[in-house]
Amino acid sequence: MSPPAANHNPATPHARAVVQFAAMRASGTLPILTAEEVVSRLGALRARQPVTFRAFYSSQLGGIVTDPALMVLPFDDHMVHRGHGIFDTAGLVDGKIYDLEAHLDRFLLSAERSKLRLPASRAEMRDVIIKTTGVSGRRDGSIRYWLSSGPGSLDLTPATGAEPGFFVMIFDGLSYPARWYTDGLKVMTTTYPIKAPLYAVTKATNYLPNVLMQMEAKEAGVDNGVFIDAEGNVGESSNMNVAFVTGGGALVHPKFDHILAGCTSLRLLELARGLVDRGVLAGIEVRDIPVAEARASREMLLVGSSVKVAPIVRWDSQAIGDGRPGPVANALLGLLEEDMRSGDRLIPVPY
Ligand SMILES: Cc1ncc(COP(=O)(O)O)c(C=O)c1O
Repeated sequence: MSPPAANHNPATPHARAVVQFAAMRASGTLPILTAEEVVSRLGALRARQPVTFRAFYSSQLGGIVTDPALMVLPFDDHMVHRGHGIFDTAGLVDGKIYDLEAHLDRFLLSAERSKLRLPASRAEMRDVIIKTTGVSGRRDGSIRYWLSSGPGSLDLTPATGAEPGFFVMIFDGLSYPARWYTDGLKVMTTTYPIKAPLYAVTKATNYLPNVLMQMEAKEAGVDNGVFIDAEGNVGESSNMNVAFVTGGGALVHPKFDHILAGCTSLRLLELARGLVDRGVLAGIEVRDIPVAEARASREMLLVGSSVKVAPIVRWDSQAIGDGRPGPVANALLGLLEEDMRSGDRLIPVPY
C-alpha cells in the first residue's frame, strides 16, 4: 500500500514513519529500537493521528506530561491486556470542574466492585485531578481518569507486588453534531445483549458491547443504539442514559440497578423538580420502563456528561411524539447548563 499523497513530503514525521515502515518491509528486517527511536516514533504516530490530549498524569511516571507522544502505559498493565481497570469522566466548564464528587463516588464504587486497590486516598486522587487540569491550561473540555490493577505479568489476577496505576487525561472532550440538538437524533434497538447488571453498574474499561452497539448504529445510518434488558425494559445507550416524558407529562428514567448510574441523570432528576413546580412536568419517576410504553412516549432524551441532554426523535422505524425535539429536552438542557456554569457543584481550577 502506498502512503496517501498528502503525506509524501518526507519532512513530516508521518512521512518519515511511512518511509521507515516501507524500508523495513522492503528489507525484510525488524529494527531493534533505541529509547530515542521509540520516542521519535511515538511522536510520528501522534503526528499521523492528531489528538487533543492536553495533559496526562501517570502514577507510574510519578508526574504529568503534556506531549501526547509520552502519554503511554506499559503493555503488561492489566488494564491494557485484560481490561482490569475502571474509569470515569468529569466535565471542565469555564475553568471549573463540574460535579467531581459524584464522579469520584462512582469511581470508588467501581474500584470496589472490580477489586482494585487504590494507589492513594480519595483526597490525593482528587488533588492530582485538579492539579493536572491546571497544568493543561484548558478552561473547557473533559477530564478522564483511570485506575488499573497495574503491570507485572500477562496473567489474569494482578501480578504479585503490582502497584495499582492511576492516570488522568485532560482532553478537549467529545463533541456531537449541532443537529442532534436542533433536529434530534435517531436511535435503533441494538442487536447486542445488555451487560449483566454487575458489569453495567461498574464503569470498567470493558466497553465491548457499548462499542459494538455504537458501530452497529453508525453502520445502520442512525446516531446510536439502545440496550433492552431480558424483561423487555429499556436499559441505556452506548455511553449515555435515556429518559422519557410520558403521555401524561411525567419524566421517567429506568432504574439504576442494571444500567450505569449516570451522574448527569442523577443530577437532572434533582433539577427537574423545578419543572414539576412550574407545571412543565407532571412528576418524576425512576422505574422499569417497558419498551412499548417507552415507544409511546411524548419525548425521549439522551443524557450524559458529554452530550448533556439531547432529544431523540426517532427510534427504529417509529417517530417519538410528533417527531420533533420537545420542550422538556430543551428545558432540562437549560437547567443543566445553568448548573454547570453557576451551580454549587463547581471546583475552580488553580491555573
Ligand atoms: C454506559 C454509560 N451509561 C451512561 C453514562 C452516562 O453517565 P454520566 O452522566 O455520568 O456521563 C455513561 C457515561 O459515563 C456510560 O458510559
